[in-house]
Amino acid sequence: MASKKIQIIRSISQMQKLSRALAGKGKRIGIVPTMGFLHEGHLSLIGRAKKSCDVIVVTIFVNPAQFAPNEDFARYPRDEKGDISKIKSAGGDIVFVPAAKEIYPESFQTYITVEKLSELLEGKIRPGHFRGVATIVAKLFNIVRPDEAVFGMKDFQQAAVLGQMTRDLGYPVKFVIAPTVREKDGLAMSSRNKYLQTPQARIEALCLYQALQQAKAMVKAEILDTAEILEDMTDRIHTVCPSAKIDYIAFNDIKTLDAVTTVKTGTVCSLAVRLHGVRLIDNILLK
Ligand code: PAJ
Repeated sequence: MASKKIQIIRSISQMQKLSRALAGKGKRIGIVPTMGFLHEGHLSLIGRAKKSCDVIVVTIFVNPAQFAPNEDFARYPRDEKGDISKIKSAGGDIVFVPAAKEIYPESFQTYITVEKLSELLEGKIRPGHFRGVATIVAKLFNIVRPDEAVFGMKDFQQAAVLGQMTRDLGYPVKFVIAPTVREKDGLAMSSRNKYLQTPQARIEALCLYQALQQAKAMVKAEILDTAEILEDMTDRIHTVCPSAKIDYIAFNDIKTLDAVTTVKTGTVCSLAVRLHGVRLIDNILLK
């Protein structure tokens, strides 16, 4: 069987033209926004989009607006060639790889802020991060005009922020959140796992997953007090990785992100931990 052709689009006007033409033919367009260096987690989103869309647009753009000056923008891993071949194998149809100077020309000055949801958790530690995320995703929605967009639960606050933006701005986009894909031992797949350079760091990175599993087991045993769960999770993390620095362990409602003190239906436990020079995040739905 001849392999399907994949289209690589680099300019905004070309992407706009193509998506208008596809919509004109009645095609349902799915978008999967990414920053590249793709792994199975990203590819699962393409698989999810293919279930209900005719044409899948995967975007690759390492978005400078969502990185603070002290963060890893310059060293964020990149592999465009490898990414394109993975997207092709996963069944993507169009790869949109815009240039930074076209997305953010020198005169650029319009940003999207999702107020309340952006201020907690990751937003507290990374001020301006979700403003950058919401701005690029709004811009991608405007260019591609998708019928459906797929994001990962791995970044559950990002999904909550972008879901809110989609509703608030009235985008006619079905917003889908797909489950986190993990390595065999439970480590959530992430482009940043590449930074875990020693076998010791890789083993100790499992402390996030193990702490989340511990929380889940406690909830199953009807221990619902989040202060108690937090204490056990903290111990577990420091047992597995004594040098770990916990940015936060938090319990929030999956949609409103309101803080929860007694676990109930829809409570997500999320955490951010720095170990061996790498900052990792993960989360689990507790109930
Ligand atoms: P990036 O980190 O490349 O992630 C792209 C998408 O893949 C996001 O929706 C993210 O939640 C999802 N993802 C990452 N790891 C995953 C895993 N292990 N399992 C399932 N899904 C996973 O998130 C971003 O890029 C950017 O902020 C972006 C939305 C593209 C805006 O710049």
